[in-house]
Amino acid sequence: MWRVKPLDAILATAEKKSLHRSLGVVQLTLLGVGAIIGTGIFVLTAEAAQKAGPGMMISFIIAGAVCAVAALCYSELASMVPVSGSAYTYSYAVLGEVFAWLVGWALILEYAVAASAVSVGWSGYFVGLIEHSLNVTIPPEFANGPYAGGIVNLPAVVIGLLVTLLLIRGTRESATVNAVLVAIKVAALSAFIWLALPLIKDQNFQPFAPLGTAGVIGAAASIFFAYVGFDAVSTAAEETKNPQRNVPIALIGSLVICTVFYLLVAAGAIGAYGAQPVFGAGGEVLAPGSMALTQQCATLTQAGQQPLVCSKEALAHVLRQIGQPQVGNLLGLAAFLALPSVILAMIYGQTRIFFVMSRDGLLPSVLSRVHPKFKTPHIVTMLTGAGVMLAAAFLPVGKLADISNSGTLFAFLMVSLAVMILRKTNPDRKRPFRTPLVWIVAPLSVLGCAVLFFFLPHDAKLLFPIWSGVGLVVYLLYGVHKSHVGRGIIEVPELDPNAPPTSAGAQPMPGVENPPGS
Ligand code: ALA
Repeated sequence: MWRVKPLDAILATAEKKSLHRSLGVVQLTLLGVGAIIGTGIFVLTAEAAQKAGPGMMISFIIAGAVCAVAALCYSELASMVPVSGSAYTYSYAVLGEVFAWLVGWALILEYAVAASAVSVGWSGYFVGLIEHSLNVTIPPEFANGPYAGGIVNLPAVVIGLLVTLLLIRGTRESATVNAVLVAIKVAALSAFIWLALPLIKDQNFQPFAPLGTAGVIGAAASIFFAYVGFDAVSTAAEETKNPQRNVPIALIGSLVICTVFYLLVAAGAIGAYGAQPVFGAGGEVLAPGSMALTQQCATLTQAGQQPLVCSKEALAHVLRQIGQPQVGNLLGLAAFLALPSVILAMIYGQTRIFFVMSRDGLLPSVLSRVHPKFKTPHIVTMLTGAGVMLAAAFLPVGKLADISNSGTLFAFLMVSLAVMILRKTNPDRKRPFRTPLVWIVAPLSVLGCAVLFFFLPHDAKLLFPIWSGVGLVVYLLYGVHKSHVGRGIIEVPELDPNAPPTSAGAQPMPGVENPPGS
């Protein structure tokens, strides 16, 4: 359980079974921005406002700061171990197999559940868009899950399906499509900032933190979702040209770009329209996504008020309310077109992690089978897509985001620990990127992740240990016996191609038939 996979073996395995290296630094940064900007800013701004009011500006800064220190830790490991698998792979090399498994298991929450959350967020924009521009109304029972009195969120399921099919067709095309969609998304946010910033009124920032410091940190824990995805860059390391240089640049670059956008958008939404929380009839605090808030919003709507926190398409709503209905619809169109790029990056990240876990023997080898024509791990992509669609069909966006955050925070925390441990245990290994001030940055990252986790809503916090417990049982029943490392199937760099393998039993991994480049 505690065995580690030697770094050299990880690198050698990647070398032999590698996916096609097609991504450059620009494509990779775009993959990052594509994965980051999404439902968090387009939709969850409303939830953050319900928790923090205008103080959500601070929430964005707190969440961004935690991501920044985590990204610096990620970059060191991503540049040292430029292979697929992200936090899972790093943990395997440093913390041992059982921790790697738990991290990989937590990453399912991060990636797959995030893909579901974004699908639901997209659905909100899709429904609003066709209603406002085409006057077509989707029956609410097919646009909402049971949490809001509906049956199934059909648009969310359909978009999950389309993205899955795109990914099965191949990374290269997907990355190109992604670049176009990122451009659309950035244009939409820029238009929002351009129109909203000049209308800022000081009084809209008062009271600044109606629910106090706890509200602001609670909102940071939820809005953290808006930054999730930058590590999708590191999961693509194995498909990147010159990953030692390109991965750290793309990671930090995409994070900086997004943080600037978020702060400007939040300032615009608060200042131009207002972002105060909605309270219950008796002045009680209402949780985002709760039935009580839904009912209170309905009452307010009947009275002719349309607060930001009640909208499922927060940014389009602000634009419509400040006298820009056409631009609001265009922004809705942009979200409609571009949010799928986030779903794409999330499902992509998830499939690559499953792929690597299966290549290590911790999951069945059928999952690492590569499609003979498309050269993509098609089976695992299909399975992931099915899971994403199922969760999106029945769960609300805020809950999905919080659940996703719990897994992400755990993974980030482990990566930050791994960086410190590796500095001690393996100080001489080449580090193309070194985390600056590592003994300050990495502990800050650990602390930041722990604090944000603590401030997540109770159900998300509770679900995480249950999820991990289930994961542990699966590991003890399957992975611990099948692990390639455990069975001595380790590959090491073969400097001399004629030299016999130096570890016992080195042999081709089952399951990867005709891997490209082998
Ligand atoms: N950060 C991504 C989003 O906001 C997951 O949708």
